[in-house]
Amino acid sequence: MCGIIGYVGKKCNLKELLIKNLKALEYRGYDSSGIAIYDDNIKVIKSQGKIEELEKKLKTIDIKNSSLGIAHTRWATHGIANDINSHPHRVGGVTLVHNGIIENYIKLKNDLIDKGYNFLSDTDSEVISALLDYIKKEEKDNIKAINKLAKQLEGSYALEIIFDGDYDNLYAIRKDSPLVIGICNGFNLIASDITAIMDYTKKYILIDDYEIVKLSKDKVEIYNNDLKIIHKDIQEISWNIGEAKKNGFSHFMLKEINDEPNVLKATINEYIKDINTLIEKMPDFSKYNMIHIVACGSAMHAGLVGKYIIEQYAMVPIVVELASEYRYKNNFYDDKTLVIFISQSGETADTIAALRNVKKDNIDTLAIVNVVGSTLAREADQVLYIRAGVEIAVATTKAYLLQIAMLILIGLNMAYVKGNLSADELNKVLKEFQIIPTKIQKIIDKKEECLKLAKNIYKMEHAFFVGRGIDYALSMEGSLKLKEISYIHSEAYPAGELKHGTISLIEEGTNVIGIMSSSDLSNKTLSNIKEALARGANITLIVTEETDKHFDFPCQKIVIDKVNNVLQPLLIVIPLQLIAFEVARLKGCDIDQPRNLAKSVTVE
Ligand code: G6P
Repeated sequence: MCGIIGYVGKKCNLKELLIKNLKALEYRGYDSSGIAIYDDNIKVIKSQGKIEELEKKLKTIDIKNSSLGIAHTRWATHGIANDINSHPHRVGGVTLVHNGIIENYIKLKNDLIDKGYNFLSDTDSEVISALLDYIKKEEKDNIKAINKLAKQLEGSYALEIIFDGDYDNLYAIRKDSPLVIGICNGFNLIASDITAIMDYTKKYILIDDYEIVKLSKDKVEIYNNDLKIIHKDIQEISWNIGEAKKNGFSHFMLKEINDEPNVLKATINEYIKDINTLIEKMPDFSKYNMIHIVACGSAMHAGLVGKYIIEQYAMVPIVVELASEYRYKNNFYDDKTLVIFISQSGETADTIAALRNVKKDNIDTLAIVNVVGSTLAREADQVLYIRAGVEIAVATTKAYLLQIAMLILIGLNMAYVKGNLSADELNKVLKEFQIIPTKIQKIIDKKEECLKLAKNIYKMEHAFFVGRGIDYALSMEGSLKLKEISYIHSEAYPAGELKHGTISLIEEGTNVIGIMSSSDLSNKTLSNIKEALARGANITLIVTEETDKHFDFPCQKIVIDKVNNVLQPLLIVIPLQLIAFEVARLKGCDIDQPRNLAKSVTVE
């Protein structure tokens, strides 16, 4: 939520540089944006709307080459998306950008009003500026002033700060919101995310909670909470710059769907050369007799798919919970429980909070994460990285696929170590796993078919995705994909549950999208689909070669290859993603940046 970027170093066309870097962070929020640049004095320019609005405004403003600046792209929390609420916020001699939420800002604001401060915006962030300005009246040392500020703030924050008169340095601090320094030649950068620095450098330093950064052209100083200078390792970015580009595709989402065969191949090469690699590369699961899976959004949906697989193959009970619920309730576990946290970004606030609670209870934790070095990856006892590379489209596709792949591997590994799957059976599945990327490519190549299905769906206002068993778990993601990028109201329902209330919403033309991947349950699902059909539903089916029938009713369908049941979900997700994409394209929606959303949800 919100992206921030700061620059300090040799003079350059900073307006241009900040805009470029800000665009790399736009997926974190796009309600408004702004920059502050030192040009004899501090100039603050902000604009409601996407970064291109700010860009237009900047064209009309003359700013000299500069050596110091900060920028922000906003996902609104406090106050509507307008120019005034946009960042940077400048009060007295302090200008800053903020990602996070200050929970005690009302009290702080009232105290500051009593001290004579006036506020222009509705934001919690302007309060931080004012408070720091107030602290600076007594405390001249900038590092000590930031330390005092942090002691008064409750909530989450990543702050980048410019102090009037100290134009050779840029300051920063974080708590529960990510910050990364990019070490460059003749200048340094500090941002919410590696994607904003990777065009300039591969060298980065991750900042931890309460550490204070003083960044100059050629020096990085990091202070701990006791105000002592600390040494931190410089790390190397392993992603390619090309991964963060559209590479000729019309949309990042389409590019990322097209990445799926290759990223799955990379996972296969890393984890499943043979049984030994699978065992060596993964934690020892033999001691666990219960697993909790905790995540948000699509990552939670991947967890639900994993539940069906692990329960069936490893015969271990799985509890899947939303992190935002799990963190505030009583959870029942013991030393034979493993809690798995799934997250593409590794920075989702609720998932991190849930992990910290579990760690306090000394329960074993494992993170399945995409972003290397992210908070979840660093704080969980063990981590399994999916290798999706950079994912830019707000709606996840390739990371979700790999999360499922990783859960399948965990299920197979557990089933084997617990003696529920023989070496022969496991070898057979691992061999078939190798051909899944080619099968995925085959579906991607059928995109014309998905477009045809989409044409039948996009004019309707409502959709219901139905399935039984694992198809229900997959329906949840299909439904979320459709609603988040096309704005069609959509719900996922276990097919057998439809008639307990929801069928009252089915009328002439209502979209019902049925998933029938398993021969065991497809006849049951089919009966429920016919019940919807009898009420006028417009039926679309996703079936395999095995569940495809000569349907005796009007419907549209896509037929995908039949593979081993445990691997089938990896194929089912592809048409779900492509259909959502094509529907959104037909509706002319902003597919990569849907309204009101942000990819990285770093506030609760
Ligand atoms: C946001 C994104 C989703 C994602 C969810 C969890 O809502 O738009 O695509 O599934 O956050 O994010 P995470 O990074 O923890 O997987």
